[in-house]
Amino acid sequence: MRILITGGAGYIGSHVAKALIERGGCELSILDNLSTGSQATLEALARMGSFQFFHNDLSNKEALSEIFSRNRFDLILHFAASVEVFESVQNPLKYYFNNTLNTAQLLDVALEYGVKKLIFSSTAAVYGEPREIPKEGIDEEHPLKPINPYGQSKIMSERIIQDVARAHPDFKFVILRYFNVAGADLQGRIGQATPKATHLIKIAAECASLKRPWMEIYGEDYPTPDGSCVRDYIHVEDLAQAHVRAMEYLIRGASSDIFNCGYGRGYSVKEVVQKSKEVSGVDFEVRMGGKRAGDPAILVAQSAKIREKMGWEPLYDDLALIIKSAYEWERGRW
Ligand SMILES: NC(=O)c1ccc[n+]([C@@H]2O[C@H](COP(=O)([O-])OP(=O)(O)OC[C@H]3O[C@@H](n4cnc5c(N)ncnc54)[C@H](O)[C@@H]3O)[C@@H](O)[C@H]2O)c1
Repeated sequence: MRILITGGAGYIGSHVAKALIERGGCELSILDNLSTGSQATLEALARMGSFQFFHNDLSNKEALSEIFSRNRFDLILHFAASVEVFESVQNPLKYYFNNTLNTAQLLDVALEYGVKKLIFSSTAAVYGEPREIPKEGIDEEHPLKPINPYGQSKIMSERIIQDVARAHPDFKFVILRYFNVAGADLQGRIGQATPKATHLIKIAAECASLKRPWMEIYGEDYPTPDGSCVRDYIHVEDLAQAHVRAMEYLIRGASSDIFNCGYGRGYSVKEVVQKSKEVSGVDFEVRMGGKRAGDPAILVAQSAKIREKMGWEPLYDDLALIIKSAYEWERGRW
């Protein structure tokens, strides 16, 4: 299998690259503009196995065509995107250009060069503020009503991919809707290196590692048990294995489909902060702030479909372990 990973120098893409290197049987290429991804991540991956690296921007069609003409890819894992919800509210066009239009462009070139399989990184943000939260979490049929441009940019990308697959019946996709991804490689070689990341567990790990003096909780009057937002945190290693399963699923010739990736259990922001203090033993300062635009109160996945259809079984469904791996990586990072 010749595989192209867009955004492979970033947080999730690099963990998937690592999982594929460990699995073997793949020739890997990574394309990244290093806007949020890092050279250090690529160097850490290079110590694990070999891959080609293309320092390119997805918006550069000429460069993209050149890469595809020289490499006959069998499958694309498309991670490259802008990923900050709050930034998307302030600068929506950045999200529509980088996420939606660049996905269309990537598909255009992929079709031209006969690539027939795509795995796409989508997000729970496509569900917006869920109508009601069933006990077992939100399933893939839940109404799609994103409440921020980031979620909109992803739902438009999903629709483009689905339309392309309808028009080209031999083109197959898996769309994975991730809930809140956290944690790091359990051997501490790679982690979330993204500068200025706004992810809760990452920020708490920075505070616990004394890289940040304090952190803020955004809103404590949500309709949740302790008033702070509730999210479903999935360990990045489990998410990486979901991609390996998705690749094998497409190789088996299974039909195109959409799957949630989460554990089906939510933790509040306050619970995560408390657990981060316990795990690290550091009582860092926490301030209460106002609500941010675009933050739904509760997002918890129902993950029965991916378990049943792909046989995915998470190994690290443990909040303390997720936090510990993020914290240990943050403390020891390059
Ligand atoms: N982190 C999460 O909790 C989460 C949740 C849901 C979905 N996702 C999705 O997962 C994917 C990866 O997210 P991440 O958290 O690893 O973010 P990240 O910022 O660490 O990784 C994104 C990578 O894409 C690269 N990139 C961005 N725009 C590019 C372009 N135009 N051309 C080439 N490379 C480009 C960046 O340099 C970076 O290496 C994204 O599509 C995101 O929407 C992430």
